[in-house]
Amino acid sequence: MEGSTRSGSVLVVDDQKNMRTTTALLLRDEGYEVADAASVEEAVVLLAARPFDVVLTDLQMEPHDGLEMLRRANSIAPSTQVIVMTAYGTIESAVEAMRRGAFDYVAKPFKVPELTIRVEKAVERRRLLSQVSLFAEDFRRLHGLHSIVGQSELMRRLGQQIARAATSDATVLILGESGTGKELVARALHALSKRCDKPFVAVNCAAMTETLLDSELFGHAKGAFTGAIKARRGLFEEADGGTLFIDEVTETTLAFQAKLLRAIQEHEIRRIGESQPVKVDVRLVTATNQDLQRAVSERRFREDLYYRLAVVPLKVPPQRERLEDVPLLAQHFLNRYNTRSGMRRRLSADAVRHLCSWSYPGNVRELENAIERAAALTDCDELAPRDFPFVPAANGVGAPGLAFPGLPTADGSPPPSLEDTLASAEKGALVTALARNENDLLMVARELGISSTTLWRKMKRHKLTR
Ligand SMILES: Nc1ncnc2c1ncn2[C@@H]1O[C@H](COP(=O)(O)OP(=O)(O)OP(=O)(O)O)[C@@H](O)[C@H]1O
Ligand SMILES: [Mg+2]
Repeated sequence: MEGSTRSGSVLVVDDQKNMRTTTALLLRDEGYEVADAASVEEAVVLLAARPFDVVLTDLQMEPHDGLEMLRRANSIAPSTQVIVMTAYGTIESAVEAMRRGAFDYVAKPFKVPELTIRVEKAVERRRLLSQVSLFAEDFRRLHGLHSIVGQSELMRRLGQQIARAATSDATVLILGESGTGKELVARALHALSKRCDKPFVAVNCAAMTETLLDSELFGHAKGAFTGAIKARRGLFEEADGGTLFIDEVTETTLAFQAKLLRAIQEHEIRRIGESQPVKVDVRLVTATNQDLQRAVSERRFREDLYYRLAVVPLKVPPQRERLEDVPLLAQHFLNRYNTRSGMRRRLSADAVRHLCSWSYPGNVRELENAIERAAALTDCDELAPRDFPFVPAANGVGAPGLAFPGLPTADGSPPPSLEDTLASAEKGALVTALARNENDLLMVARELGISSTTLWRKMKRHKLTR
């Protein structure tokens, strides 16, 4: 690309002299300001002395490797974007680098446009980062995660992972059973990202035939097939600048997967029946409730696509592994029902206990539906256990009981100890009372018939905050 006017500063780190000087030269030709270093130590000195937009580092170096480079760059200059270069056959370590915060990776040998497109994006991202004030960042964080209800350790951890993943453009693969909230996670990722003011577009692969999915995603030219009376932009183009969420991605054909892979690698798509490619800039988030690795081993899913999609895997835990969130979620759905309907339904303490004793094969969606149904069908304001007939009576035998993370919860699993049951019920009662009284601690204490000091102590024991 002659006479190119690209701007930005790049630090090339590689212990192989040939590779280092060629890469530096190539980037200089493109218009970048380039420095190079033969080792992590050398690079650190340069980084500490002046800011760089991008560090382009080899992964396999001696004595310190690219991951160490990444770690040092992150601590010295957090806004500097790191791209790792990797030889074929070591894609896993590149993926690992991205998990640890690298912006992107390029596989060697690379073609010049492939490299420059990535460097260009990294430079752009660094510029954006330095414009965003801390306040704006915090604000978005708050709002993006706001819609995901849950205080359990598992959900807190997920929230942190979402916030971290939202700062990059890496593809995210959301794994989890049906109804666990995967789409909610995808939306939060978008809301927290720098793309938040651009479109969020969602598509469900299971709901469509291959042909329909093709034309939905990639668009088509006029007359491309029977019925295509005019040209149409696909969802990739609709999502330009924003996030494209592809749900149930395992439900696709190998031919479709090849197209998706091309779109990701080349940042461009081709409408059906058209030969001119169209540039697209989308952040891809995909989800599946199936075992994708198994699909890969059974050759139903392309391995190279899997690696491209799963740069950051996020697992949404099933409801049975976070039963302590049930009271909060139940109250959340009931509040929403009340606001919509103008009713004033409440949950009795018994009902909350009852709800906590179910294992929710349909996950959060099942709980959501149960609350809506019960609230709509009952004729008294307080919901009782009988309003939730799907839950077997919680009298010990036969009831699914509380789940222990990591252990199967199907019949035959060990029943919870009395101590655990009591603690869980107490926590449930506290959470509901806090939500019902909008965190007014005096009211909560009065309602539960305990002193404020006891309330504080119990909240602390259950790690509850207002
Ligand atoms: N943590 C949560 N807080 C509040 N609402 C939630 C939460 N998790 C899920 N929901 C609600 O539960 C319902 C199911 O969530 P969602 O559609 O995101 O699940 P999913 O994992 O995409 O399911 P599927 O695999 O069936 O597509 C939605 O109405 C969503 O708003
Ligand atoms: Mg979904």
